[in-house]
Amino acid sequence: MKIHVSRRAFMRKTAVGSAAMALAPTILTSQATRPALLGGAPVRTREWPNWPIWRQEWEQKVIQVMRSGSWWRGRGEHVADFERAYAELIGAKRCLATASGTTALLVSMHVLGVDAGDEVIVSPFTFIASYNSILLSRALPVFADTDVETLTIDPQTIEAKITERTTAIMPVHIYGLPCDMDPINDIAKRHGLVVIEDACQAWLADYKGKKCGTLGDLGCFSFQNSKHLPTGEGGAITGDDDLIMDRCHSFHNCGRAYGASNGATQYFTRGSNRRMQQVQAVMLIQQIDKLQEETRRRQENAAYLMRQLDLPGIHPVRLPENSRAVWHLFPIRYDAEQFNGLPIAKFVQAMDAEGIPFRPGYHELYFDGLIDEAIQSRGYKRLFSEQRLKEYRESLHDLQGNRQVCKTTLAIGQNLLLGDKEDMDDILNALHKIHHHSAEIARA
Ligand SMILES: Cc1ncc(COP(=O)(O)O)c(C=O)c1O
Repeated sequence: MKIHVSRRAFMRKTAVGSAAMALAPTILTSQATRPALLGGAPVRTREWPNWPIWRQEWEQKVIQVMRSGSWWRGRGEHVADFERAYAELIGAKRCLATASGTTALLVSMHVLGVDAGDEVIVSPFTFIASYNSILLSRALPVFADTDVETLTIDPQTIEAKITERTTAIMPVHIYGLPCDMDPINDIAKRHGLVVIEDACQAWLADYKGKKCGTLGDLGCFSFQNSKHLPTGEGGAITGDDDLIMDRCHSFHNCGRAYGASNGATQYFTRGSNRRMQQVQAVMLIQQIDKLQEETRRRQENAAYLMRQLDLPGIHPVRLPENSRAVWHLFPIRYDAEQFNGLPIAKFVQAMDAEGIPFRPGYHELYFDGLIDEAIQSRGYKRLFSEQRLKEYRESLHDLQGNRQVCKTTLAIGQNLLLGDKEDMDDILNALHKIHHHSAEIARA
C-alpha cells in the first residue's frame, strides 16, 4: 500500500525542513524518476475503471420489454415505475421522465412560463445544452458570472443582470457541485422569478439536507451515456407542485391532459413529444442501487483527494457550506506560475504521460458563434431592441470570473473516482512528480 503524506501534515510534524522531507516515500520515489513525458517511467500504467458498466443480470428485464413490443410509455408501467422510484430517491413529490436532459429543460421552461422575448439568467460555465435550451425557447441566455472558487454561478452577480424581461434563473450544479441555492432562491423570490435547476450532472448531490433538483421550482436531470445513471439518452424533471408537474406531463405528451387515455385526441395545450421509452426506464430502475453505492465511493475518494491536495498551484474547489458534491468530474484549478510557468496544455500532456488523464473544463462557449447566430436572426431582432442586443453582446466580455475559470480549470473523469485509495495516490503522486519537475518539463 502506498502512503501519501500531505505537506500540511508534514508542516504539523516539523517546524522547519525542506519540502522534500515532507513527502512520503512513494512521492519521493516518483519524484526521483524522470517525468514520463521526458522518457521516464510513468506513475501508472494500469487502466482506469471503464464507463458505463453493464451487468448481465439486467438483461432479462430489458429483453422482456423488447419481446413485449410495448416499447413506448403509453403501453406498460416501466416509465411510471421509474418516475416513482426516482422521485423517492431525490426526495421530490413527483418526477417526469423525459427523452433527455435538454428536453427536461425545455419542458420545464415552457411550463414555468419562459416565453419568446424573455431573459433567463444562467451560469456560463456549463455544457452547451443549458444555453441551447434557453435559445430554443426563444429567450435570451443572460450570463451571471462564475465564482472562481466554486465554479458555479456567483449569486452576487445575479441581481445586476435582472431586467424587466427576466423570468427565470437557471443555476447549474456543474460537475455535480451544488450551487449556493439560498441566495439564489432569495433573489428569485424578491424579483418574482422562477428557478429551474440544471441538475443534469448532479444526481444525489445535496445542499443543506435537500437534494439538488428539489431546491428550485423544478429540477432537470440527464441520463445520457456518460452520466452516473446512464441509459444512452434520457432525462427527468422533479418537482413538488402537482399542477406544474401535470402540465409538464401534458407538454411532454403532445398536449394531452394528464391522466387522459393514450389515444386522447383533445389538446387543451401546446405540446411536443419528449417521452422516455420503456427500455430506458428498465435500464434506469435497475441501476439505482448501483448509483447510490458508486456515489458513496466517489464521495469518499474525492474527500481523500481534497484532504491531501496541498500542492502549490493546484486549487481544489470550494463547496457551499453544508453541501455534498457527487463529482461528475473532479475539477481543480491550475496555476502555471506555481509550476514554473509550465503551460496548462503541457501540464495535461505531462499528466497524461503519467497515466492520469486530466481534461480542460468548458471554454467561453458564448464566443463560439451560437449566440451571434441567435441574436442576428430575424426572430431575435423582432423580439429584442437593437440597443438591448448590442449591450448584451458587449456584456459577454465582462465575465471575468468565468474567463479565469475557463482558462485554469482541469478535471478528471468520474470513473477515476471509482478506483481505490491506491488509485487516488497515483493521482497525487503524479501531481507531485510533475510539480517537482515542472521547470525541466517547461524547458523541454
Ligand atoms: C449541465 C448539463 N445540462 C444539460 C445537459 C443536457 O442533457 P442531455 O445530453 O441528456 O440532453 C447536460 C448533458 O450533458 C449537461 O451536462
